[in-house]
Amino acid sequence: MQKKLQEIHNQAVAEIAAVQTEDELKQVQVRFLGKKGEMTSLLRGMGQLPPEERPLVGGLANQLRDELTNLFTAREEELRSTARRKAMADEQVDVTLPGKPPMIGHLHPLTLIMDEIAEIFLGMGFTIKEGPEIETEYYNFEALNIPREHPAREMQDSFYIRPEVLLRTHTSPVQIRTMEELAPQVPVRIIAPGKVYRRDDDATHSPMFHQVEGLVIDRDISLSDLKGTLLLFARQMFGPKQQVRLRPSFFPFTEPSAEVDIACVICGGQGCRVCKDSGWIEILGSGMVHPRVLELSGYDPEEYTAYAFGMGVERVAMLKYGIGDLRMFFSNDIRMLRQFS
Ligand code: DAH
Repeated sequence: MQKKLQEIHNQAVAEIAAVQTEDELKQVQVRFLGKKGEMTSLLRGMGQLPPEERPLVGGLANQLRDELTNLFTAREEELRSTARRKAMADEQVDVTLPGKPPMIGHLHPLTLIMDEIAEIFLGMGFTIKEGPEIETEYYNFEALNIPREHPAREMQDSFYIRPEVLLRTHTSPVQIRTMEELAPQVPVRIIAPGKVYRRDDDATHSPMFHQVEGLVIDRDISLSDLKGTLLLFARQMFGPKQQVRLRPSFFPFTEPSAEVDIACVICGGQGCRVCKDSGWIEILGSGMVHPRVLELSGYDPEEYTAYAFGMGVERVAMLKYGIGDLRMFFSNDIRMLRQFS
């Protein structure tokens, strides 16, 4: 019996050392020391022993049970602290590791260019005006001296919402709204940036695009004021050596009218594919505001003169960033947009 006790004890010691969790330990404990455990069952057979052997075996049994109990307690403590250490290691953060930079949004290249254009004109004393994108024929055409038979009025060029109401085809109606609001105050010095709409869609035309309109009214405003202002603009936008060139043109709302070119930013004026070997690139339409337009909106053309211009924002952006296809601005290709962050 003593031998048997010792065997059970040895077996228990080995199993206690082998368990890896508190649960497993508990099971081992029940199996050896529980009410129906191996040690307990063995000791139940003590009655069959000769009386003189009983104290000896009883003493040994008590000693072995105490030893096992201590072992269980010690192993339990050991498992618990290992688990605690592991939990702590799992939670550990290495603060010296480099972080993941968050993705940050940024402005669209056209917004950047519009802001830059506005900034240049604000620096020259202009203020910013806005007008509605849904316009009446009066503001979009009539008040700008665009007669009914004019090609720009035909349905294929404009998006009509209902008769007399359309998406503005240019920012020039803001000229009229500004004059109506301010007449007969001078000086007037405004720019009007915004979206415009035309029924066009190819590599150089989009059904929606952006313009920045300019209007200056005062006594003795002349074409040289227009040219000087645009030269200053071109030099701030495209570099201090830029040149501008005025080419005679026609717009119903200006007289005389001019298209304004800058020296080709690709070849510097030598001639290349982009400027079609002319060395010049058109960026806007302009002119001296037609006396009829001034008069109709409250400015006496005998007393005041005015110049106006309308700039294509996509045009300026394509030249500034060297972008060949207008549709790049509107296709929302993240690879293209990311280059402007
Ligand atoms: N509104 C014209 C267009 O969209 C551009 C323009 C030309 C605006 C001459 C002007 C101007 O203010 O004076 O094509």
